[in-house]
Amino acid sequence: MTDIAQLQAELEGASPRAILKAALAKYDNIAISFSGAEDVALIELAHKLTDNLQVFTLDTARLHPETYQFIDRVREHYGINIEVMFPDAAEVQDLVTRKGMFSFYEDGHGECCGIRKVNPLRRKLATVDAWITGQRKDQSPGTRNDVPVVQIDDAFSTDEKTLVKFNPLANWSSKEVWDYIRMTEAPYNKLHEKGFVSIGCEPCTRPILPGQHEREGRWWWEEATQKECGLHAGNLIARE
Ligand code: ADX
Ligand code: SF4
Repeated sequence: MTDIAQLQAELEGASPRAILKAALAKYDNIAISFSGAEDVALIELAHKLTDNLQVFTLDTARLHPETYQFIDRVREHYGINIEVMFPDAAEVQDLVTRKGMFSFYEDGHGECCGIRKVNPLRRKLATVDAWITGQRKDQSPGTRNDVPVVQIDDAFSTDEKTLVKFNPLANWSSKEVWDYIRMTEAPYNKLHEKGFVSIGCEPCTRPILPGQHEREGRWWWEEATQKECGLHAGNLIARE
């Protein structure tokens, strides 16, 4: 098995492209987790490195129309398949029957994110050996300051499989991501033209004002240190 600590030491100062290249060389069965926002930079970088790109997205059924349109634009632009993972219908039905459509404003986003994002993600991750995310250190001072470029994914590894997680954009700033998107003329989500910076589900995302941190546009009714939805639960565990 690859020594992940050693790989992390080797790749920490490397460019996003070099990190992706190493990830794709080491793992055949590896997939990019695409949220439909500025993490399109990962697809722009990776599609030049392989003809065999696996990309998936988690459709919570609560995304903005602009995000759905963007996902299809990305599919067409790069000529790739994007696997769309859906939540379990019975689980959503049970939640909505018990608590209505907006329970997260009352008792936090954990339960809804668990059903609509984390469980479908777990199903997808059971089929791969490694995954690639667009997490960056500068996305959330409260939870992502220490995001490494590669790590063992303790939250989704099982007794049978040690899952590896690559975060090639970890050391890029938002500005560097956007410079790259502009330079390569990559497609982007139209919500970015309306003041949205960090983009998630429609009821839980809002545009931000000048000077606000991008994370203030997400789950704004909750405390900053809790603003992880479970996809990257390790960020919270590591800080406990
Ligand atoms: S979140 O945990 O707060 O929702 P964020 O929006 O910052 O995550 O995105 C960080 C990375 O998590 C993305 O670049 C992507 O790899 C993954 N991610 C987030 N939301 C989704 C989604 N709906 N589908 C697939 N991947 C996602
Ligand atoms: Fe539910 Fe909001 Fe989480 Fe989306 S971000 S899954 S709507 S709580």
